[in-house]
Amino acid sequence: MNADAQKRAAAARALEFVTPGMRLGLGTGSTARHFVELLGERVRGGLDVVGVPTSEATYADALRCGIKLTTLDETPELDLTVDGADEIGPDLSLIKGGGGALLREKIVAAASARMIVIADAGKWVASLGGFPLPIEVTPFGFEATRRAVAAAISAVQPCGPLTLRRAQNGHAFVTDGGHWIIDAALSRIDDPAALAQKLSAVPGVMEHGLFVGLATFAVLGGPDGVRIVERPA
Ligand code: A5P
Repeated sequence: MNADAQKRAAAARALEFVTPGMRLGLGTGSTARHFVELLGERVRGGLDVVGVPTSEATYADALRCGIKLTTLDETPELDLTVDGADEIGPDLSLIKGGGGALLREKIVAAASARMIVIADAGKWVASLGGFPLPIEVTPFGFEATRRAVAAAISAVQPCGPLTLRRAQNGHAFVTDGGHWIIDAALSRIDDPAALAQKLSAVPGVMEHGLFVGLATFAVLGGPDGVRIVERPA
């Protein structure tokens, strides 16, 4: 099974957690797209659920798949969010935001009673940080914010290069919320909760891609099938 087939297998298994009447958070990325497509099949078969998309891309996918949509203004409490991740640690701490949707993803996950993270087994890591940590910032005062981010990281661990994410046209990549993204190459994050706290305190940082204490289950597609991991108590 290649990585894409593993993602689809994880998405299919996560669908078993969905029951009629649920209010769902719909994640962003290639794995979440599999989930949205499979959910759409169930909806067309009569399943009654409502979803809140975490990005404009997922909004378009869900609409195309015939899934009834709502917003967090109309439906501020959700039952379950299903989303992908860029890295998953043993305590189900996550790095997210490789697709640039981290701000809405975190708002939606935080509004959900449970979050299931779905991924291919290659996303499972012994410690976070191999994947550069996305940090969403306001364009205003970018250089000052970048320096403040470097100082915040250095207060808890070594800080690597902080790179402004660029789109294919060479301009700054702009998120759905109109912000920019700094990708922080850290190699290793020993204390995700401590780093998360420091980054959240920097003015100009809208959100960072560390999701700590949000995922309740990980559903991992691997070469030998799907494995489910529950967050340790
Ligand atoms: C989107 O901003 C990200 O958080 C995605 O959930 C993450 O990048 C995983 O994407 P894939 O499912 O495409 O690997």
